[in-house]
Amino acid sequence: MADFISGFWNMYVMGLVALSILFCVFVLVSNMTKREAGEVQLHGHVWDETLAEYNNPLPRWWLYLFWITIVFGIVYLVIYPGFGNHNADRGEHSQYYAEMQAAEAKYGPIFAKYQSMDLAAVAADPDANAMGKRLFLTYCAQCHGSAAQGNKGFPNLTDDEWNWGGEPEAIKTTILGGRMGVMPAFGPALGGEGVKDVANYVRSLSGLAHDSLRAQRGQEIFAANCVACHGPDAKGNPMLGAVNLTNKSWLYGSSEATIIETVTNGRQNQMPAWKDFLGEAKVHLLTAYVMSLSKEQK
Ligand code: HEC
Ligand code: HEC
Repeated sequence: MADFISGFWNMYVMGLVALSILFCVFVLVSNMTKREAGEVQLHGHVWDETLAEYNNPLPRWWLYLFWITIVFGIVYLVIYPGFGNHNADRGEHSQYYAEMQAAEAKYGPIFAKYQSMDLAAVAADPDANAMGKRLFLTYCAQCHGSAAQGNKGFPNLTDDEWNWGGEPEAIKTTILGGRMGVMPAFGPALGGEGVKDVANYVRSLSGLAHDSLRAQRGQEIFAANCVACHGPDAKGNPMLGAVNLTNKSWLYGSSEATIIETVTNGRQNQMPAWKDFLGEAKVHLLTAYVMSLSKEQK
């Protein structure tokens, strides 16, 4: 149960279990009528003209079996523990804890060795990269792809283009602390035509086909609205994650329609922080692995 992302499902299951048990108790209690001596009650239904049914209480032994089942269920829940394990499976006596301790004893020194090495040296070490790759496939591939080639909104990590800086320390800072790229929506401010003009200018920056009249008008719009983040040369700003608009690498896409969508509605995406979850040693290895990916391309 501890694997649920939010506590809600724990509470939900616990609530259901508690309600079911209470319901069983209620049913039993409401059927605990005693028979008065000598009295014979009938149900009142008559079948086939004369066939009636005694309304006898449930047999005692049968009822007790039910009570025993309920008590067994509660004891089982407590001991198992089925009633929300509340970190019990991560406690010091758990199998999980023992395995983590064993892994720490085995890999701790290896992580420590790499952590004390320069990032460039780790990136050149095949064993370190094999470990980095395993970490990447476990923690990063769901967003960046198993080959780190990225996807719409998720940057490609194998090229030489970096939205947040490609120096080893910048990459490490990205992974440790996460990043949040916020491109504001300009639809209301620029209007449909204005957006289309600036989109054509953006396309012209990387040599893509564009309407030159629109691009000319777009250049002014760009100078007035976009240079604060993307820079006067549109080469981006790694402090803000404002992407370079002059190259062939696109986070969301280069088609006119996509750029119009980006500029009209804005874009926002988040790279989670890994410092607390993975710890610095693993992030060190991952940084080196990410560095090795863009080296391979050269
Ligand atoms: C939940 C999805 C998600 C996961 C998981 C994830 N990332 Fe990211 N990552 C992103 C997004 C989104 C961005 C881009 C943020 C932005 O600028 O909008 C990003 C950006 C980056 C960047 C910066 C790229 C650049 O151009 O500067 C690096 C490096 C990176 N991630 C590495 C990793 C590593 C290593 C892991 C695994 C520990 C990881 N990411 C896991 C979503 C994710
Ligand atoms: C407040 C800073 C800021 C301003 C102002 C800004 N941008 Fe951006 N822009 C960003 C950031 C940050 C991103 C990356 C968004 C992300 O990581 O999800 C971005 C992304 C983009 C993209 C997506 C590129 C791709 O690779 O898919 C385009 C296109 C773009 N901006 C164009 C513009 C234009 C045109 C303007 C002016 C009208 C503008 N931006 C103004 C910060 C800004």
